Order: sequence, then C-alpha cells, then structure tokens
Amino acid sequence: MLVALASAKGAPGVTTTARVLAAVWPQDVVLVDADPAGGDVALLARRPDDGALDPERGLLSLAADARRGYVDSPLEDHLQQTEGGLDVLCGVSTPEQTAAIAPAMPALASGLLGQQARDVVVDCGRLGPSSPVLPLALAADALVLVVRPRLEAFAHLRERVRWLAHARQPRPGTPAVGIVLVADTRDRGSAGELAQLLAHEQLPAVVLGQVADDPRAADVVAGRLRRPVQRSLLVRSVRPLVEPVQQLAAHRAAGRARTTA
Ligand SMILES: Nc1ncnc2c1ncn2[C@@H]1O[C@H](COP(=O)(O)OP(=O)(O)OP(=O)(O)O)[C@@H](O)[C@H]1O
Ligand SMILES: [Mg+2]
Repeated sequence: MLVALASAKGAPGVTTTARVLAAVWPQDVVLVDADPAGGDVALLARRPDDGALDPERGLLSLAADARRGYVDSPLEDHLQQTEGGLDVLCGVSTPEQTAAIAPAMPALASGLLGQQARDVVVDCGRLGPSSPVLPLALAADALVLVVRPRLEAFAHLRERVRWLAHARQPRPGTPAVGIVLVADTRDRGSAGELAQLLAHEQLPAVVLGQVADDPRAADVVAGRLRRPVQRSLLVRSVRPLVEPVQQLAAHRAAGRARTTA
C-alpha cells in the first residue's frame, strides 16, 4: 500500500511523523522523501555507519532513469539504508531539481504503486493545487494530513480537504483522507473538535489520532539530539496510528490489487 503524508500549510510535523511512522511500520516499508520544497531526509538521516546519505541517489536518480527510458529500473537501486535499518528514497535539494523531476511524477507514482513486496510511506510536504507531487499524493491509497490544534490551521485544513474531494484524479477513486493531530498529550479536546468540524461540513476525512507534541524526541528524529527515542511520547503515540492508517488505505489498495490481478 501507498500512504502519503502532507500538510495544508505551515510546518506541523509531516516529515517527523512520516519518519517515525515508517520506522515503526510493522511490514517491510520504504520512506520516500517527495517534499518539493526540498527534502529533509538526506540532510537529517545518517547511514548505519554514521556517514551522510548521498543526495544524488533517490528521486533524482530514479527520475533520470525514467527519462532515459529505463521504466523498470528497480527501486532498490535508488534506495539508501539509514541508521535503524529503514530504507529511504532521498528527495531533491533545489527548486531546479524539483522542476526536473516533476514530469516523472506520474511514472514514479505508478512505479511506487507497483511495489508488491513492500509498503511505501511518502512525505509530500505542503500540498496544494500547484504542488508538483500532486499526482503522487492523489495516487496514494491513503492521504494523511498532519495539522496542529490551531483555529487557522483547522480552517486551512478544512479548505484543503474540500479541494481534495474535487481534485482531478490520476486513477479512479480518491485517496481516503485521514488527519493526524500533533498536539500536547494533555490536549483531550482538539481531536474531537476537529472531527465535529469535518462532520458538520460533511467533509470526507477522518481523524485518525494524535501524535504527541514532544520537542525533544522530535529533535532526536531530526538528528539534533542523540538519545534513545523508542520509549518517548512521540514514538509511543505514533505506534497506535499504524492500524488506523492501514485500515484507511486498505480499501483502495485492495481495489487496486483486484484490477491488477
Ligand atoms: N511531534 C512533534 N513534537 C514536537 N515537535 C515536533 C513534532 N513534530 C515535528 N516537530 C518540530 O516541528 C518542526 C517542523 O517539523 P517537520 O520538519 O517534521 O515539519 P514539516 O511539516 O515536515 O515541515 P516542512 O513543511 O517545513 O517540511 C521541527 O522543529 C520539528 O522538530
Ligand atoms: Mg517536511
């Protein structure tokens, strides 16, 4: 299955959530850094031997293969392993590179959807009508929007969900839209308020749960701090999200499996 994560606006924690989600994903998984504003994974993640990742190997090399007509270039050739064993497809570093890979997006989306042996978690960054990674986000089995509990953030999110429901699809159906709230663990009201807002406006999105606002653990994920993070509030709050995310994605993934069988 292909799960895309994105935000409507701001920097609510898409990259952090995507990295932790992929790290705790129970099946074989690849993390794809498709943020068109410039990928963070190649800058922040380290190889198992603590070396830096190669920023040229990832989306860029995959898109270059696609341009040369190597449609069946194995994804494995473009992946890099990070500390902890997670396989990542690194993103672009400059706006010029984003422009260069944009035409390859539909091919890239079908290549990632064609992965039989492993699931794919994609960081799509901020998602709007002009995003070059829109074909990838709309091809996903589930699209998870990350938001902070702020009035204006909820308003932007609402508009984005409304727009997504009518966005032109690259393949039949629409990705199921889920929402993850990054909030203080003591905040027990915002998720319910958001769910009410969506229900009141009959918007097709479900609130999947809450990721703990845990700045120290987020710093560890970003490589700014070194300490064990497995028992942090952040990681413990992301683990229970795996099941609802998989359930959300299951319907479209199963439909796709039936049509390709
Ligand atoms: N769960 C969290 N708890 C506390 N801080 C967090 C959490 N997630 C992210 N952050 C912090 O918020 C900032 C933005 O995080 P991140 O880069 O993950 O967001 P983003 O939505 O991917 O932003 P951008 O759109 O700029 O790529 C960072 O300083 C990060 O450490
Ligand atoms: Mg990001």
